[in-house]
Amino acid sequence: MKAWELVKFGPEKNLRLVERPVPVPGPGEVLVRVHAVSLNYRDKVLVEGIYMPSLPLPFVPASDACGEVTAVGAGVARAAVGDRVTGHYRVRWIDGKPGPAEVALSLGGPLPGVLAEYVLWPQEAVVKAPNRLSYEEAATLPIAGLTAWFALMEDGRLKAGESVLVEGTGGVSLFAVQFAAMAGARVIVTSSSDEKLAKAKQLGAHDTVNYRTTPDWDKTVLQLTGGLGVDHVIEVGGGETFSRSLNALAIEGHVAVVGFLGGMEINVDARSLIRKRARVQGIAVGHRRAFEEMNRAIEIHGLRPVIDRCFPFAGVREAFSYLDKGAFGKIVIRVVE
Ligand SMILES: NC(=O)c1ccc[n+]([C@@H]2O[C@H](COP(=O)([O-])OP(=O)(O)OC[C@H]3O[C@@H](n4cnc5c(N)ncnc54)[C@H](OP(=O)(O)O)[C@@H]3O)[C@@H](O)[C@H]2O)c1
Repeated sequence: MKAWELVKFGPEKNLRLVERPVPVPGPGEVLVRVHAVSLNYRDKVLVEGIYMPSLPLPFVPASDACGEVTAVGAGVARAAVGDRVTGHYRVRWIDGKPGPAEVALSLGGPLPGVLAEYVLWPQEAVVKAPNRLSYEEAATLPIAGLTAWFALMEDGRLKAGESVLVEGTGGVSLFAVQFAAMAGARVIVTSSSDEKLAKAKQLGAHDTVNYRTTPDWDKTVLQLTGGLGVDHVIEVGGGETFSRSLNALAIEGHVAVVGFLGGMEINVDARSLIRKRARVQGIAVGHRRAFEEMNRAIEIHGLRPVIDRCFPFAGVREAFSYLDKGAFGKIVIRVVE
C-alpha cells in the first residue's frame, strides 16, 4: 500500500509517498481501506514541528479518515467487513470524565495517522459513518464535527432560543453554525471575509460581523443582542480575541475555548470573568458516546458537512499548503478516486 510519511519536521515538502506492507489485524483490531481523509489545523502545526516536536519520525500524519472495513481480527464485535467507518480521534475516551491516557492517546499523533491506503484501528476506535454521508463528508466528523458538537451540546447544554457566537468560518466553526442552527439557537458569525459571511448565512447564521473591518466586533455583538450578550461563544481565536469574547458574553454565559489561531497566550482581566460569572470550558475534542449521538442527529436532520475543496491522494502537499489560505469549512483528500 501507499502512505504519506513525514521524514523531517518543517514545510509540507518533507512529506514523502512511500510503499508499506498492508497491515494484518490482530485480536481486537480492524483493518480499514481508507477512502477519504480530512485535514485539521493540528496536522499542519504537527508537520511543522510546533505541536509534537518530540514525535519519532518517520510518521504518517493526519487524524481523520473514513473508509470501509476489509478485515477484522479475532474477537471483534463492533465492526464487520463492509462497514463504512470513521476513526475516533481519542481512541480510549469512550464516555464520562477522561483520565490522562484518554486525553493523551489520539490518532495522528502520538498514535499513527491516517494518510495511508489502509489503517489498523483498535475496535474501540471505530465509529459507523452516518448512512447518507459520502466517505468525503464523513471524514470531516472525527475532530471538527465532534469538537463543535461537544462544545455546544455536551459541555454547553445548548437550548433552543439561546444565542451562539461563532468565530471564523473554518472547519470547527461551520459545524458549530450548523449544529447551533439545527438546535434552534440564534447564531452570530464573525469572519474576515464578507463573501464567507454571506455563505455562512445560507448555512443558518442569523447575523454576521466582519472582524477585520469591525475590529471592536464585541460591541456589535452586544448591540445585536440588545446589550445582553450571547449565551455561548465558540472561541477559536485565543490571544487577543478572548477578552473580546468575554465582552460579548451574557451574564453566566459559556465560553468554549477551542483554538489558538490568534495566539496561545490568553490575557484577561479577572474582574470581567467575575462580573459575568462566566463559565470557561477548555475543549479537547470529545468522547465516543457524543460522537455516536452527533451522528444520529446528523442522520435525522440530513446535515451535510461543508467541504471547501477535495484533493487527490497524490496532491497531499498541495492540500497542506491550501490549509494556510483559510478554507471555508473542510479540506478533504480522496484516497480512493
Ligand atoms: N480544542 C479542540 O478540541 C480543537 C479541535 C479542533 C480544532 N481546534 C483548534 O481550533 C482552531 C480552529 O481549527 P479549524 O481546524 O477549524 O481551523 P481552520 O479550518 O483552519 O479555520 C481557520 C479559520 O479561523 C478563522 N480565524 C483565524 N484567525 C482568527 C482569529 N484571530 N479570530 C477569529 N477567527 C479566526 C478564519 O476564518 P475567516 O477566514 O472566516 O476569517 C480562518 O479561516 C485551531 O486553533 C485548532 O487548533 C481545537
